[in-house]
Amino acid sequence: MGECMRIIYTEDYSQQEAMEKVRDIVSRRGGQRYFLRTFGCQMNERDSELLRGLLGGMGYTPTDTPEEADLVLFNSCAVRENAQQRVFGNIGRLKSLQESRRDLLIGLCGCMAEQSKVQEALHRHYPYVRLAFGPHHLYKLPSLLLELLQGEGAKVFLQESGEYAVVESIPQERTPGIKAYVNIMEGCDNYCSYCIVPYARGRERSRYSADILREIESLVKEGYREVMLLGQNVNSYGKGLDEEIDFATLLEKVAKVEGLWRIRFMTSHPKDLSERVIQVMASNKNIMPSLHLPVQSGSNRLLKKMNRKYTREEYLQLVSRLRDAVPDVALTTDIIMGFPGEEESDVQDTIDLIKSVGYDSAFTFLYSPREGTPAAKLQDDTPKDVKQERFERMLQVLNDGVIKKKAEKVGQVYEVLVESQESTGTWIGRNPYNDLIRFHSSRDVEGALLSVRITRAKKFSLEGEIVEEALS
Ligand code: 5AD
Ligand code: SF4
Repeated sequence: MGECMRIIYTEDYSQQEAMEKVRDIVSRRGGQRYFLRTFGCQMNERDSELLRGLLGGMGYTPTDTPEEADLVLFNSCAVRENAQQRVFGNIGRLKSLQESRRDLLIGLCGCMAEQSKVQEALHRHYPYVRLAFGPHHLYKLPSLLLELLQGEGAKVFLQESGEYAVVESIPQERTPGIKAYVNIMEGCDNYCSYCIVPYARGRERSRYSADILREIESLVKEGYREVMLLGQNVNSYGKGLDEEIDFATLLEKVAKVEGLWRIRFMTSHPKDLSERVIQVMASNKNIMPSLHLPVQSGSNRLLKKMNRKYTREEYLQLVSRLRDAVPDVALTTDIIMGFPGEEESDVQDTIDLIKSVGYDSAFTFLYSPREGTPAAKLQDDTPKDVKQERFERMLQVLNDGVIKKKAEKVGQVYEVLVESQESTGTWIGRNPYNDLIRFHSSRDVEGALLSVRITRAKKFSLEGEIVEEALS
């Protein structure tokens, strides 16, 4: 395993020089356009903001269609097979375009890009893909592009280096608005038996708190009002850092940033959610009472096989301690059905757990074997239709609970932070519990904090009316 090192981008002359050289080539060619498509989670969305920043720094301009692009880049997700197939499908659709425009550069980045099986598939079935690099190599984009632009027909496929750097100050192009993603750490060391992420994103490494706080302070100056602190397992923030800090302390520091109205964070592994984090949540008004706490399964037998390192009882106790400290906390989760060896009693255990927690929403997945993970080697005899039936049964219970919770919110008045205008006069915002709320206003209310009464519950969203203008 490589040492966790810190590279300051602005001192990384090789990348900066490469950037300038690419810029020259781009301007000599009269400008170049890129098409970037992002798949998967918030981590990838955040990475795409950096990719856009790097590309912009090299003189590339964005376009919405691959047909108009000189460079097409797919920021991919490998977490489930169907996510991966979608990416291959997108690459496949570019075959004829590439044949008619030989100079079109097509690249794959993100979690799929450095897997040997994926690279083999690219060589064999999609030989026109000329660039592949994983998330921890993202900052090298300038030198990779330079190599490609200088070498006619060259191919650059990076492989896992085992060295995982934390790279600060990469140019970026943030999605405009009032909410911003802020990475606090990269990678994951948990090795849940089904999950490809520790292999795709590498070892856990945290950013220094000073860098994180500086970033948040400048976001607030730019007008952002809410941050989502991102990490595969935010509760182990600080481990391995030569700074004495943990996630609870980081949260406390972030909560003190003046002008920052709302703080959220994800993802929390139940085994690492400390008492102190709960206390910090309870005692800071700008930390939202909403938590994503993936349970994956309600069966102890399966939790063990999944290597989750907690039992259903421990999870339920955690939920109850959380609710003691933050009584109104909204809980969301991830659930995997169809894990190898799943039996009817496991399904029942999961359904029971869903009922006793009462989630505000959930992401549900059918297990998808990922080559290279321990679970992929497990025997899996359950027929597909049985898995499907169990999945739908679980989903029904889950959705009944979610819909009931939403319905109970009719009549309540919430503080809503307005995110965007959906259509003329219809605005979208969220309450502290992260419920999506639609309402009407003929004024421009983007970024305002309004008092909104819920008038109607839809399946997965709420409708409301403004009670009081601008609380802020
Ligand atoms: N199959 C199905 N779901 C998976 N997840 C991760 N790996 C797999 C897999 N192999 C789900 C987990 C995780 C979420 C991001 O994706 O529920 O929390
Ligand atoms: Fe995957 Fe588990 Fe890490 Fe989440 S905690 S990224 S599910 S290995």
